Amino acid sequence: MSSEKKSQPILLCEPFLEGNEWLYLKECLDTKWVSSAGKFVSRFESKIAEYVGVEHAVAAVNGTAALHMALLVAGVEPGDEVVTSTLTFIAPANAIRHAGATPVFIDADPLTWQMDANLAAGFLSERCEKRGGRLYNRNTGRRIGALLPVHILGHPVDMDPLLELARDFELPVVEDACESFGASYKGRNVGAMGDIACFSFNGNKLITCGGGGMIVTGDGDWAARARHLSTQARSEPIEYIHDQVAYNYRLTNIQAALGCAQFEQLDHLIVAKRRIAEAYRRMCRQLPGLTYMPEAPWAECVFWLSTVVVDPGAFGMDSRGLLACLAEKKIEARPMWQPIHRSAAHRGALFVDTGAADHLHSHGLFLPSSCGLTPKDQERVTAAISAAAG
Ligand SMILES: Cc1ncc(COP(=O)(O)O)c(C=O)c1O
Repeated sequence: MSSEKKSQPILLCEPFLEGNEWLYLKECLDTKWVSSAGKFVSRFESKIAEYVGVEHAVAAVNGTAALHMALLVAGVEPGDEVVTSTLTFIAPANAIRHAGATPVFIDADPLTWQMDANLAAGFLSERCEKRGGRLYNRNTGRRIGALLPVHILGHPVDMDPLLELARDFELPVVEDACESFGASYKGRNVGAMGDIACFSFNGNKLITCGGGGMIVTGDGDWAARARHLSTQARSEPIEYIHDQVAYNYRLTNIQAALGCAQFEQLDHLIVAKRRIAEAYRRMCRQLPGLTYMPEAPWAECVFWLSTVVVDPGAFGMDSRGLLACLAEKKIEARPMWQPIHRSAAHRGALFVDTGAADHLHSHGLFLPSSCGLTPKDQERVTAAISAAAG
């Protein structure tokens, strides 16, 4: 049997569960606090709020639910438009639809891969107008409800120009920080810059609850409303009295127990992601036709998913060819996301497009980025990529 056949698969992004996970889960089972109340839920909320540097955190069942509630709390109404990134996992666009609004997709800045603030500024200033103190899209007549920048891949969005736009146009900012917990922008933590922000603790994220999410905000009323929405809008704790149609979006104690154990390992996990990034960066310097993902001078990136761009001419093979070569060696890679304005799920939505996200979709590949990736595993990935190079 060849050594490749014997070797274990290297997956894209596995959780790293080496702390108190068993201990805290056992405590949940032993005490029977397994559902959506319990000490781990409130502990997890206060740990996240303290770390991000915001006053309030509200746990949610996942990042998509957190985004849905954040949009509602920020005042987005059915029929509104929400300005967001096209180069992202699809969840924020879906959350906008769940709120009854329509996304306006803004292309990526080719230098940072994050939402291009100049394009957003062009859309808001040239295609929208203020009426009665509110901003409307001149063509569709729909109100602009919010700005929803998405910090992708562990790297922050260039927030200052977007925050200035939000001030000028009086729009709330909902940060989608689901992929970028732990990252910072000019010394400010991701999640602490907008009016409200969301994190995901899905199994593939830097820290995980299995599934989980969190809303953070400095506004106590907004936090209270999100909490209310997440618990079926129960307005009285004993009688079954509910004051609106709402959701069952609360995180369980079991999930939060996992999250608390994971949070204790955060520093170590960030070090691991940066070590993996550095090794891939070194590889890219040695292999013509491969470019490692950017880290802007003002960014502290946590490199949630290490990503390379393949120039087929210089590398000798395109990104999908490399994907297939890696798959043959049981190494999992993935193409960057299809820009959401191309997705059948959001067909017909508005977009401001320069082709930057299309380029990254065609040529970008996510590489194995698990915090538990050993130097030996990483050498195996590097060797497989080097062997594929023409
Ligand atoms: C950018 C982004 N936003 C939102 C989400 C949604 O999070 P969840 O999977 O926890 O619902 C994810 C990922 O999973 C994401 O990558």
